[in-house]
Amino acid sequence: MRKKVTKAIFPVAGLGTRFLPATKSVPKEIMTLVDRPLVQYAIDEAREAGIKEFIFVTSRGKTALEDYFDHAPMLEQQLKKQGKEALLAELKASNMDSGEIAYVRQHKALGLGHAVWCARRLIANEPFAVILPDDVIAAETPCLGQMIEAYEETGGNMVAAMEVPPEKASSYGVLDVAEDMGSVVRARGMVEKPELGTAPSNLAVIGRYILAPSVLRNLNRMRSGAGGEIQLTDAIAEDIANDVPVYGYRFRGQRFDCGSKAGFLQATVAFALARDDLREELASYLAEVVQLGKAAQ
Ligand code: G1P
Repeated sequence: MRKKVTKAIFPVAGLGTRFLPATKSVPKEIMTLVDRPLVQYAIDEAREAGIKEFIFVTSRGKTALEDYFDHAPMLEQQLKKQGKEALLAELKASNMDSGEIAYVRQHKALGLGHAVWCARRLIANEPFAVILPDDVIAAETPCLGQMIEAYEETGGNMVAAMEVPPEKASSYGVLDVAEDMGSVVRARGMVEKPELGTAPSNLAVIGRYILAPSVLRNLNRMRSGAGGEIQLTDAIAEDIANDVPVYGYRFRGQRFDCGSKAGFLQATVAFALARDDLREELASYLAEVVQLGKAAQ
């Protein structure tokens, strides 16, 4: 039997400079998509996929994130008194139980690989998941759940993958595909942020990973890669030479790049349109705006 994946690392140490001035005092991960912080979507996805231990790699200025996961007894009492049961349930669903969540500080911004390595002692010798909360994925079966199902067949390392236009490939980790089996591909290599025109394929890595503990050992070597940073992509690719296979998984779902303003706005609209309480009003507003735009042309 393959060991179950029950731990997930959430790297949230980034400064969020693209969202300044908001991120001067609000961690990016607390910024809301409709009425839920970005990070809540990542947690819900992990929980649904069977994750039991949530490890956050944070940095200075992220205390609002820790407070967010805490219980809020006064607020709960108030809602109870007012008979606001639905809101109370919503609020309780965002609580984390004692011991379920751990925080590790990344003291220096040395890259994604380094951030993941900071959590090594909490992982020990078992497979683990990594979720980048900036990549929000709307899907019927949450992306990590799809991957865990595929991983139970394959083992090794698995990264979420998505086709991107060639001119966008240099913003991602890109897979060098050895064998394409449809939803799963086997990689013979991976390149972080390849220079324009040099990408080995158009299959980009998206922020969901299931990794073997050997990746943490590879990270021990602290090699720096693209942009002078210690890259997770490189540590995963190193495993291929060590005979731990690396698979890309073409997930079913729509990915939003919430690390960019345009992506964040698109996700906001998409998630609001998916909500029964908001759809009608927002859809008619959007139709109006589009019509006005057309009339102005
Ligand atoms: C990170 C990873 C990259 C991956 C991307 C997905 O890059 O390093 O391999 O393709 O996330 O969003 P970043 O977006 O942090 O530059």
